Amino acid sequence: MKFRQISAAERTATMFPLQAYAFVPSPWPAGDAEANSERMKFFESTVSLVAEEEGQTLAAVAAFRMRQNVRGRLHDMAGVASVSSHPSARRRGLVRELLNRLLRQMRDEGCAVSALYPFRAGFYARFGFVGIPRYRTAAFAPEGLGHLLRAELPGEVSWLPMSEGFDAWDGLQRRHLLTHRHGFAVFDDVRAAEFRDDKYWVAVARSGGEVVGAVRYRIKSYGGDLVADHLLCANPLGRALLLQFFARHVDQVSRVVVKVSTDEVPELWGTDIEVITEGKVDRPSHGGPMVRVLDMEALDGTAVGPGAITVEIPDDELAGGVWRLESADGALKVSKGTAAPSARVSVGGFSALLYGVLDPVEVVTRGLGEVPPEAVATLGAMFPREMPYLVADF
Ligand SMILES: CC(C)(COP(=O)(O)OP(=O)(O)OC[C@H]1O[C@@H](n2cnc3c(N)ncnc32)[C@H](O)[C@@H]1OP(=O)(O)O)[C@@H](O)C(=O)NCCC(=O)NCCS
Repeated sequence: MKFRQISAAERTATMFPLQAYAFVPSPWPAGDAEANSERMKFFESTVSLVAEEEGQTLAAVAAFRMRQNVRGRLHDMAGVASVSSHPSARRRGLVRELLNRLLRQMRDEGCAVSALYPFRAGFYARFGFVGIPRYRTAAFAPEGLGHLLRAELPGEVSWLPMSEGFDAWDGLQRRHLLTHRHGFAVFDDVRAAEFRDDKYWVAVARSGGEVVGAVRYRIKSYGGDLVADHLLCANPLGRALLLQFFARHVDQVSRVVVKVSTDEVPELWGTDIEVITEGKVDRPSHGGPMVRVLDMEALDGTAVGPGAITVEIPDDELAGGVWRLESADGALKVSKGTAAPSARVSVGGFSALLYGVLDPVEVVTRGLGEVPPEAVATLGAMFPREMPYLVADF
């Protein structure tokens, strides 16, 4: 068995058949491989690894080069995708070997963290990943926002095709949300460029010349649904401007369906609004994202609460060991631990604390570690609950 990194140009002949077989309806129409080949310029910076036997590709994995905000600290992130194996080569450990190689390589190339969307969370939990929230969708009739129809708001919304709205939509994510929002992640410019030509409308909200909100969307039918992607806003005014834009579709669409973060409360958007807010996680198509730490020492400078503790992370090639974690005026300092550890948490358990999704008690009840009562208080204070918002989908 040969494991190797391939170029973007090689992906079409090697990875495309496995991916197309795994993820899209098949047999696929003639011409799909050519279309895939055209797209490969957007994968030039992607790290793609394959397992080959006698010239045949049997399994593949890839990582997009991304950036992510984790508690205010920006990191290079490996966005794992394209995980697939040949049906007759499954359960031979090929994907396990490829993923281990990929995560090690991405860590060595500077990625402190990694994220992915699982087909089955339990599969990736064994690689140290832990779940973070999937987005919610809010579905409501535009009438529910009627109070905004004639409201005078200090700003304006432009309605644009994606090709014209891309820079504002992408810029809001790169310049504002990435730096302000825990869990937010963006692709590098090479990968992101493909979205410029997506068939979406974009509503861009500006106030005082600044982009304060952006949402891409499609109109499904006259009298049908306006289906929007994430409601991206820099502040409450940005949200109000975008909602006002939706309200103005009152005689055109029957429903607006929009993706929101777990901390949005759509029933508070209007007095008489009727809204269904739901989060759907199922297998294999709607997995909640998962994350993990790849490099403990790179976490220096993370914004944490007060405290100091020594923890052991067992059995992990990348993040394993005994670590001293100290808060110095609210900034995390990570060093190799010399004292006996006060808690033992798996890399998934530690990642859950770092990303703010589980309390130390939940780390124990989920079977992700052993945390004695004294350590529960310290870890809870240092890593308070704070829900990450991952919008990038891959
Ligand atoms: C999911 C998939 C990539 C697994 O590939 P594979 O080559 O069978 O994986 P491996 O043999 O390396 O399995 C690694 C480990 O996970 C286990 N495993 C594999 N598939 C599993 C599953 N569906 N559920 C739970 N465990 C699974 C294996 O038993 C093995 O365990 P071990 O480490 O104790 O030996 C493959 O089935 C596939 O291509 N599926 C369709 C596409 C897909 O869903 N991709 C994932 C997108 S996120």
